Amino acid sequence: MATADRAGGGSVNFDRAAGYYDVTRGLPPEVGDRVAARIEAAARPGARFLEIGVGTGRIALPLQRRGAWVAGVDLSAAMMATYRGKAAAAGLPAPRLLRGDVGWGPGLPHRPNSPRDALQRRMRELTAAAASTPEWVGVGDARQKLAALTGLGGVEEPLGAETWATEETWAAALDEVDGRIFSYAWRVPEDVWRAAAARVRAEATADHPDLDAPVAVQRAFHLSRVRFDG
Ligand SMILES: C[S@@+](CC[C@H](N)C(=O)[O-])C[C@H]1O[C@@H](n2cnc3c(N)ncnc32)[C@H](O)[C@@H]1O
Repeated sequence: MATADRAGGGSVNFDRAAGYYDVTRGLPPEVGDRVAARIEAAARPGARFLEIGVGTGRIALPLQRRGAWVAGVDLSAAMMATYRGKAAAAGLPAPRLLRGDVGWGPGLPHRPNSPRDALQRRMRELTAAAASTPEWVGVGDARQKLAALTGLGGVEEPLGAETWATEETWAAALDEVDGRIFSYAWRVPEDVWRAAAARVRAEATADHPDLDAPVAVQRAFHLSRVRFDG
């Protein structure tokens, strides 16, 4: 049974997404491995990693697979159960996981070149007034997190990006809107969401006669290191 979606301080519990998170947000395996390699290369030799908001192990599991020491904390027991299952299926030791609230809510990256992102932006515009809390209270998206860390005296070093090409369709992105799979949707009352989703579907259908035509999308996973050791 899912616990409340919203914890304190703008955090979002992903219990309800545990069953589909990897399908909708998963990285291609080779990209996950390249991201893990970059994280390892950016850390000291033998470094141990703690992922806050570890979720289904999208980032942590490839690190674990490379032999790194990894621990994770997350609000959502269901997300971490998915990670445990994936680790067991991969023949890895049980991951070191702790259920807990670290007090802030990770944001979602913006990928403006895709149907999915265009629809998310539009749905945010249409439903903002009815969302139950303001957008990302406290430390929210990746830029805000980095600003908070540099504000504490850390020095940011961008580590570049892993990029990959994929395809989306407007039809699939509209189905995602209907399915309310992204966490910002969970703050909006059902009737408001449904009305906005119908409007967005009408707009997309008018703008894109073939909703099933593949749209080439370039994705990027950006990495930064913040050093506190001078
Ligand atoms: C967008 S998912 C990202 C999961 C993982 N880091 C990844 O990249 O796939 C955000 C995760 O952070 C967790 N989370 C959100 N707020 C949290 C908090 N205050 N404390 C611990 N975990 C939190 C959610 O339950 C969810 O699993």
